[in-house]
Amino acid sequence: MEKEQIIGRTISFVKEQLAGAEGGHDWWHVHRVYQLSKEIAAVEGGNLFVIELGALLHDVADSKFHQGDETKGPAMARDFLSSLSIGNSIISQVIFIIENISYKGGYSSLLQKPLELQIVQDADRLDATGAIGIARTFNYGGYKNREMYNPSIPPDLNLTREAYKNSKAPTIDHFYEKLLKLKDLMNTQEGKRRAQQRHEFMELYLEQFYKEWNSEI
Ligand code: ADP
Ligand code: NI
Repeated sequence: MEKEQIIGRTISFVKEQLAGAEGGHDWWHVHRVYQLSKEIAAVEGGNLFVIELGALLHDVADSKFHQGDETKGPAMARDFLSSLSIGNSIISQVIFIIENISYKGGYSSLLQKPLELQIVQDADRLDATGAIGIARTFNYGGYKNREMYNPSIPPDLNLTREAYKNSKAPTIDHFYEKLLKLKDLMNTQEGKRRAQQRHEFMELYLEQFYKEWNSEI
């Protein structure tokens, strides 16, 4: 099968899998990560086919939406890719991206990440920042019926991996527990460059939020 045809089939598969997903983790999130990955790859290099497939499949069966099961997504992606008779080396590289992309409180034992993982991870993190990151975060908080903000529940900057996954804290806390940390966790130069302005926008947003909350303006 031609690469283009494989990408087309993968897009259809992912759209099907994510139908009805929460608005911050739906096909449009994948679409943005896919586009961003290609933009970053144009500057940084890497195997574009692996990057494209990794970006498209990175959130299939997210463990958050499958009772914390972290094996389901990679297994589904492997079955799907095998059904398209793609070479084993490509499949392994794509599965490696899916298994290692997640933030999970910033905990990762990987010292050396392949460039393809670095790029898709940067793209996924960029989509967690800036105006879109803010929108996704409040959408997720609403989906989980969380408080938007509670001045008496401060953020916990040192959450363990388990505590991060199980956190029920107000949505504003998530900015400090994850979003504002992402700028310094970007892997690639192009990722860092793109993260800077998005980061500043979130800081401005928070300043305005507190001013309004405290009736200062
Ligand atoms: P990762 O898998 O890299 O940990 P997630 O899928 O958990 O990333 O997070 C993706 C986005 O979902 C976050 O950037 C945020 O917008 C939203 N989100 C996840 N967890 C929370 C949370 N506890 N509170 C608010 N938003 C969240
Ligand atoms: Ni994602």
